[in-house]
Amino acid sequence: MNYHIETYGCQMNLHESEKIAAILKEKGYERESGTEEADIIVFNTCCIRENAENHAFGNIGRLKKLKRQKKHLIIAVGGCMVQESGKAEYLKQKFPFLDILFGTHNLSELGELIERKRAQKKAIVSLKEDREETEDGVVPVRKSYPNAWVNIMYGCNNFCSYCIVPYVRGRERSRSPQDVLAEVSSLIKEGYKEITLLGQNVNSYRAEDGTRFPQLLDRAASLEGDFRLRFMTSHPKDFSEELVAIMKKHTRICRQLHLPVQSGSDRVLGLMNRRYTREKYLQEIAQLRREIPDCEVTTDIIVGFPTETEEEFKETLSLVKEADFLSAFTFVYSPRTGTKAAAMEGQISEEVQKDRIMRLVEAVNAQTREKSARCVGTVVEVLCEDFDEKKQMYLGRDEHGRMGYFASGENPVGKFVRLKITGANGISLFGERTE
Ligand code: 5AD
Ligand code: SF4
Repeated sequence: MNYHIETYGCQMNLHESEKIAAILKEKGYERESGTEEADIIVFNTCCIRENAENHAFGNIGRLKKLKRQKKHLIIAVGGCMVQESGKAEYLKQKFPFLDILFGTHNLSELGELIERKRAQKKAIVSLKEDREETEDGVVPVRKSYPNAWVNIMYGCNNFCSYCIVPYVRGRERSRSPQDVLAEVSSLIKEGYKEITLLGQNVNSYRAEDGTRFPQLLDRAASLEGDFRLRFMTSHPKDFSEELVAIMKKHTRICRQLHLPVQSGSDRVLGLMNRRYTREKYLQEIAQLRREIPDCEVTTDIIVGFPTETEEEFKETLSLVKEADFLSAFTFVYSPRTGTKAAAMEGQISEEVQKDRIMRLVEAVNAQTREKSARCVGTVVEVLCEDFDEKKQMYLGRDEHGRMGYFASGENPVGKFVRLKITGANGISLFGERTE
């Protein structure tokens, strides 16, 4: 039997889909396939912005016909969107052909839900309010070699006023350092070369034995083997000198910090409940660069937050320059029902939002281009991760997060390769292998 998983959203979701794949395999769905050939289809959804939801709605809706033709097909929808207040009921009504709906805290039950569904006609809805456990007992089926994701914590307590994550992912729960380090060790032994420690806000990692994130990172980076480490996402309010010191101590921790700033205006940051100022943010990255001069900073930015003025938006534009970001994920503010910001006065018109996002994207891209152009003529090391069919070239990321493309006779996937850079385009570099 075949399975198909459709994943929306962040790396957390991509990683959870690796766990869903493991559960499906255990239930006899051996082969991954396209939707048409699948015997089970699982949607792992996202609700961070409205367009993520609309995208999923469209793709779920398209399966109506397939389900009519193929009676034994099971369609399951899970993840963040299902966990939103009232959404499971809404989905059930909108798409009466769905078989299983499961929330973010019900992943480990998916196997049982499939069994139950095979025995009954009626749709199954399984939702839990929150969970305490930090282990789901599922060993993920990873397809991302030589990269691997490892969860260190789940949930978020920050309640940024625009964000739905705390509502759908629940309160923070940190895995024990023993479990995290055992998983990282075994991945290194299996030959994985890049491990990314994952959490909504890794800086607030706090294990029951008192271990905090810098110590966990220190211990992970002290493991033996040929590998490098990344972590995401960090929150500027919890940024610490200790973290910088650990990054400096271990050169195998990639010289890239993803530090979402969201806005360059103090008034907007206040409304967003981010609990830092523009100045504090800039001080943090200045300190990081003092200690680790080649460390690149990447970020997330939202434009068109309620009441954001043109002047305040310009402060975001000037921050992009001042912070010298290598790149940024840029978003138009999307009101999420139940969050504080959705109820605020002064929602910004679509027209103004569009204008601001276009100007922001242009500013970020120009900066990325300029920074990449400076790499031409230098030697960059990348971890080769794949072959790009379109470009007919191998590709890999350098430790700062740039993509490097190159030709190679032998297959170098999983190897660290040095490239003499001959050209650049956006965040992508092009080069030739060198020793
Ligand atoms: N609208 C737009 N962007 C959002 N993000 C989170 N919530 C929203 C929202 N309601 C962005 C933030 C966050 C990233 C993962 O998604 O920039 O850092
Ligand atoms: Fe959302 Fe803020 Fe938590 Fe990030 S830190 S997941 S933006 S509430």
